[in-house]
Amino acid sequence: MAHSFLYFWGLSLSLSLYLIPSAFTSHVYIVYLGHNQNKVPLLTSKHHLQLLSTVFASKEDAKQAMLYSYKHGFSGFSATLNSTQAQILSNAKGVISVFKSKTTHLHTTRSWDFLGLSMDYSTDHKGTIPLKWQQAYGGDVIVGVFDTGIWPDSHSFREEPGMGPVPRSWKGKCVAGEHFDPARACNRKLIGATYYLKGFERRYGKLNRTRSIEYRSPLDALGHGTHTASTAVGSIVKNVSFLEDGGFARGTARGGAPRARLAVYKVCWNINFDGRCTEADILAAFDDALHDGVHVISASFGLRPPLRAFSVSTASIGSFHAMQMGISVVFSAGNNGPDPSLVENVFPWSISVAVSTIDRTFPTRIILDGSLSFLGEGFVVHPITAELSGAGTYFFSGVCRTQSMKNVSADGKIILCFSNVGSVRREEAEAAARNTSATGLIFVEPLSRLFPDITILPFVQLDIIQGTKMAQYLSESIDPPIVQIFPSKTVLKRSPAPIVADFSSRGPSSISPDFLKPDISAPGINILAAWPPKTPPTLVQEDSRSVNWNFQSGTSMACPHVSGVVALLKSAYPDWSPAAIRSALMTTAYTIDTSNDQILAVGSIKASDPFDIGAGHINPIRAMDPGLVYDMKTQDYIIFLCNIGYNEDQIRSLVLHTHGNTNNGKNTYCFSDPSSSEAGRITSNANLNYPSITVLNLQRTTTITRTVHNVATGQGWKVAVYFVRVVNPHGVDVVVWPKLLIFSPIKQECTYYVTFIPNKISQGRYDFGEIIWSDGFHYVRSPLVVLVNTSTTAASAGFQATANI
Ligand SMILES: *[C@@H]1O[C@H](CO)[C@@H](O)[C@H](O)[C@H]1NC(C)=O
Ligand SMILES: *[C@@H]1O[C@H](CO)[C@@H](O)[C@H](O)[C@H]1NC(C)=O
Ligand SMILES: *[C@@H]1O[C@H](CO)[C@@H](O)[C@H](O)[C@H]1NC(C)=O
Ligand SMILES: *[C@@H]1O[C@H](CO)[C@@H](O)[C@H](O)[C@H]1NC(C)=O
Ligand SMILES: *[C@@H]1O[C@H](CO)[C@@H](O)[C@H](O)[C@H]1NC(C)=O
Ligand SMILES: *[C@@H]1O[C@H](CO)[C@@H](O)[C@H](O)[C@H]1NC(C)=O
Repeated sequence: MAHSFLYFWGLSLSLSLYLIPSAFTSHVYIVYLGHNQNKVPLLTSKHHLQLLSTVFASKEDAKQAMLYSYKHGFSGFSATLNSTQAQILSNAKGVISVFKSKTTHLHTTRSWDFLGLSMDYSTDHKGTIPLKWQQAYGGDVIVGVFDTGIWPDSHSFREEPGMGPVPRSWKGKCVAGEHFDPARACNRKLIGATYYLKGFERRYGKLNRTRSIEYRSPLDALGHGTHTASTAVGSIVKNVSFLEDGGFARGTARGGAPRARLAVYKVCWNINFDGRCTEADILAAFDDALHDGVHVISASFGLRPPLRAFSVSTASIGSFHAMQMGISVVFSAGNNGPDPSLVENVFPWSISVAVSTIDRTFPTRIILDGSLSFLGEGFVVHPITAELSGAGTYFFSGVCRTQSMKNVSADGKIILCFSNVGSVRREEAEAAARNTSATGLIFVEPLSRLFPDITILPFVQLDIIQGTKMAQYLSESIDPPIVQIFPSKTVLKRSPAPIVADFSSRGPSSISPDFLKPDISAPGINILAAWPPKTPPTLVQEDSRSVNWNFQSGTSMACPHVSGVVALLKSAYPDWSPAAIRSALMTTAYTIDTSNDQILAVGSIKASDPFDIGAGHINPIRAMDPGLVYDMKTQDYIIFLCNIGYNEDQIRSLVLHTHGNTNNGKNTYCFSDPSSSEAGRITSNANLNYPSITVLNLQRTTTITRTVHNVATGQGWKVAVYFVRVVNPHGVDVVVWPKLLIFSPIKQECTYYVTFIPNKISQGRYDFGEIIWSDGFHYVRSPLVVLVNTSTTAASAGFQATANI
């Protein structure tokens, strides 16, 4: 194992070395030392400086190079190094990994590609949270939001009436900075606010205000952080809407846990209205947040694929240490869909969230020549009557892009554009239409892109079937048709809902397909939440509108929905581990939509599968009473750490030993010889006690185990009996043993076995099933993800062996 680790590490290090064009280039590196063995942070920092000094001529040079010393939640530092220095440090005693600090990206589109929703919970759709719970729970829970900062003047961050004093456990700060006065900004709601800029400035140079607005403080210039924070924990604000004159999605805005406290960690900064967050800064935020006493961390950003190994990713390292301290970390899954395997933030100790719609739409009526009617989607405020024109009049080859513009003014015209002509995105088409001085734009897209965006120009999105009709009518008209566009409406209870968004990142994980990611899906399309009035709602410079509430779409918006629910669970069950909370969310998630059919996944317009939505769509009410949970403590992740190549010494320095949890290294034990392990053992993480079950490369009969914990509430319970129901994946027989689990006051934990028997010839395709344990009241559901591999000559022997059973 030690050997294979060296190989593993040597590989990743040399890869990064070869990528450096010149050996003399310096970068910000992160040097990770595992769990903080030292109780005194100052001593830890001293040690870091000593270590860093070994690769510099003087201590002064080392000090210059150092960005952060991470010393609270874990041990490590970031510094500007050249490749030689990085290599030397990677071989130093106690160093677990050395890797470059990369830039992560926010998981919203620039509000363009996909837009528009509301977090008005006034509908009683099953994905929403009852107000009585929101008011009962969350009060002592502190949610840390790692994002672009905060606009503290938003009503979302006012104290809720009757809110108690700041929890005594809180050790964080509210720091002063540009246009940010802690005395005014922070209160019993917004209890902390800090910012991290060193990594950003080393990478991108000093903050440049001529380039884009920014503040050297926790103040939010981009809106993203204000939006996500208000979605997770925003106070209740009545009668809000997008655009005063449009009044879209009017209703009450509130976060999932409106009584929870908010701690803001600004790690993402504005460059041309795009958020950039460096890993050196992110790790500093983790280090502080773990020390400050947050209970939940909500992070809506990620490193784009290719994904990096778990040992060289700050989000992985930070969330691992958070998990050990009982802190839940919720990440967005990324906006890379609908192609498979581009899911981000795939760590086994955190939650990765996919995005789907709610039941709200913004239908927009279009009438041609007073007779032909179409129904699109948009945010049109005022009625428009104009001539309809084809894109070919204004753009070469009909491609609606600024680069294709003919020198013809479209003043007073509505242009009809097709996204598939030249493969044009909404933002490009809208900019081009504005450039031609058009009065409005009708943009035709495939059925798989259902959601409207906010725009500057009046913009209606039409599906390809209606768009084709409109184009036909236009081409057959002798005189230009007169088009009337009516103001968009806000309509609730659209069925089916939810629908997984086309851009939501899909599984399986490209680095660890042996456990399911994403974990769960949550609303994140056209979410209405708080917004800085100084930030243009479209994030386009020319947009001069000022709004306090804005629509945003993305897994960025889905993530804080889950964080809010996690805060409620944390408050109701303070003892539950992050894994127990995740299990409660996953096993109670639903896969059936409002039309009583499988939730759809757009992008493909088919029934969704676990790679689209993980265990399903979040159901906060059921999550509060899951019946059973698949719990995991640090010890349960050790097999995973072994499988990804850590050796025992390293695992010992990663794992936090607390009282009652000291195994004297006994459990920090990897199988020393994988070949001698018991027959049928899977050299993957199939036995990780995850609430979803994945078996890859199923060649012959294979058995895995799971352990469930009874957490049923209600005083009178004595004995609980759970029966199993199985839905087989195609071509696989699944046998669960035992068939019933009996829990009693003295036996609250049961282990069961799942045997997978392949009964088809197949290679390299995924099939899905499920296991549901039920006591007649609770339904504890786990998705099954199986990849049968029986079709090669080698594997056909395995298939025959199976047939003999
Ligand atoms: C790296 O930096 C060290 C210390 O400044 C210096 O001695 C060494 O020559 C540098 N190596 C390379 C390859 O730039
Ligand atoms: C800021 O950005 C502008 C535009 O990109 C550039 O012209 C200017 O030189 C930059 N200023 C600094 C101090 O970097
Ligand atoms: C909500 O606000 C709008 C516009 O400001 C106003 O016309 C309306 O009366 C308000 N509704 C309620 C219920 O207060
Ligand atoms: C566009 O047309 C206007 C008026 O016809 C003319 O003045 C202008 O020079 C043209 N611009 C280009 C780039 O052709
Ligand atoms: C079109 O937009 C570009 C920037 O996107 C701008 O530079 C150009 O001047 C615009 N042209 C017209 C005719 O508005
Ligand atoms: C299927 O099995 C063959 C033979 O054992 C193996 O080479 C191949 O990698 C397997 N494919 C997958 C997808 O696991």
